Amino acid sequence: MSVLSGKKILLGVTAGIAAYKIPFLIRLLIKAGAEVQVVITPAAKDFVTPLTLSTLSKKPVYASFFNEEDKDATWNSHVDLALWADYMLFAPLTANTLAKMAQGVTDNLLMAVYLSAKCPVYFAPAMDLDMYKHPTTAKNIEILQSYGHRFIPPESGELASGLVGEGRMAEPESVVQFLEQSIVKTLPLFGQKVLITAGPTYEAIDPVRFIGNHSSGKMGVALANTAVNLGASVTLVMGPSALKTNNSQINQIDVVSAEDMFEATTSHFDTANIAILAAAVADYKPAQQVNQKIKKKDSSLHIDLVLTKDILATLGANKKHQFLVGFALETNDEVENAKEKLKRKNLDLIILNSLNDKGAGFKKDTNKITIIDADTNIKSFPLKDKELVAKDIFTEILNKINA
Ligand code: CTP
Repeated sequence: MSVLSGKKILLGVTAGIAAYKIPFLIRLLIKAGAEVQVVITPAAKDFVTPLTLSTLSKKPVYASFFNEEDKDATWNSHVDLALWADYMLFAPLTANTLAKMAQGVTDNLLMAVYLSAKCPVYFAPAMDLDMYKHPTTAKNIEILQSYGHRFIPPESGELASGLVGEGRMAEPESVVQFLEQSIVKTLPLFGQKVLITAGPTYEAIDPVRFIGNHSSGKMGVALANTAVNLGASVTLVMGPSALKTNNSQINQIDVVSAEDMFEATTSHFDTANIAILAAAVADYKPAQQVNQKIKKKDSSLHIDLVLTKDILATLGANKKHQFLVGFALETNDEVENAKEKLKRKNLDLIILNSLNDKGAGFKKDTNKITIIDADTNIKSFPLKDKELVAKDIFTEILNKINA
C-alpha cells in the first residue's frame, strides 16, 4: 500500500504544455489510493480540459470563485479547499505562477487556495530551458524552498519549443515517487523497525492432526498495516492463517508451530525498535514427535503435553532498547491478570481483551481493548474495528516513545 493511500491531494494545474501529462498523474495518484481535487488556472483550460481532469479525479474541477453556469452563484471557497488538503501539489508549475507564489500575488482561485493552505506544498516546474535558466526562476524556486515547499526538479530532454535541455516537467511516475519518498520521511515511525507476531500456532499431534486455536490473525495484520502507514518497516511473523497482508512493504514470515514462531521472532528482535506480540501462541505442545498417523485403538487416548517456549517472556528478559507490547486474553480478574503478566514478562504495554466483551476476540472484525502501561495506568477504549484499534495502540506507543 502506498503512503498516499487515503491522502487528500489538492492538485494545482497551471498553463503549460506539460498539462497534457496531468491526466496520467491523476490516474497514478488515484491508483495509489489518494483523493485528488483539481484547481486549475483559467489559462490552463487551453492545455487540458476540465472534463478530462474531472472524469479522472471523480470530482468537480474548480477554476474560479464562482461557477459561471450556476444560477445561484454559489462560490468555491478557497479556504475550504485549502483546509481540505493534506498536501498541495503544483504540476505543471509555470514561471508565471511560480513568480506569483514567491510574491503572494492572488489574482485567481488557485493562488487564493495556495495562500490559505497550511499543508505541505510540492511544486513541479515546467518551462522552456532559457526560462528555466533565468535568474528570476532560480531565485523564485529558492524563495519557495525557503517557505519549506518541496521542489520536484524538472528533467532534461526535448522541449515543446524543439530545443533540448532542462525544463521538462518530471514524468508523472517520478512525481508520484517523489511524493511517496518525501512523505514517508515525515511519518512518525520512519526509520523504525516494527516486529509483530499474529495468528495461531499449530502444534502437531501426528502428521495429520494438530492442537490449534481460532485466532484469525486479523488484529496482527491491522497492526502491521498501521505500522507501514506510519512509515515503519515491518516484519510480520504469521502463524497459519488464510489472511494475506497484500502489502509489499510488509516482510511476512509464515510459520506453523510455537517453536518456528520463537525462532523467527527472536532472530528479528535485536534489530527491532518496537515488538508487538499479538499471536495466540499455543502454551502446550505434544511431548512426543509422532511421524505416523495415530490409529484409533482404545476407547480413550492420552497425549502428554509440554510447555512451549514463551516468546514474549524471552523478549522481555532480553530487552535492551526495544519497546515491548504484549496481549492478554482473559476471562476473569482481567485487569489484575494483565497487570501481573505485564510485570512478569517485563513489558512496556499490555493490551487486554476480555472474552466477556461482546464483539471482541477471535475471528471478529472488531475488538474492545484496555491498555495498561508499565506504571499501571489504565485506559479503556470502546468497541471498534480492528483497524481503528490498531491506530489507538500505535497512538499510545508513540505517546510513550516520544514522552
Ligand atoms: N505469548 C508468547 N509465547 C507463548 C505464549 C504467549 O509470545 N508461548 C504471548 C502472546 O502473544 C501474548 C502474551 O504472550 O502477547 C499473552 O499470552 P497468554 O497466553 O495470554 O499469556 P500466558 O503468559 O500464557 O498466561 P496464561 O495462559 O496463564 O493466561
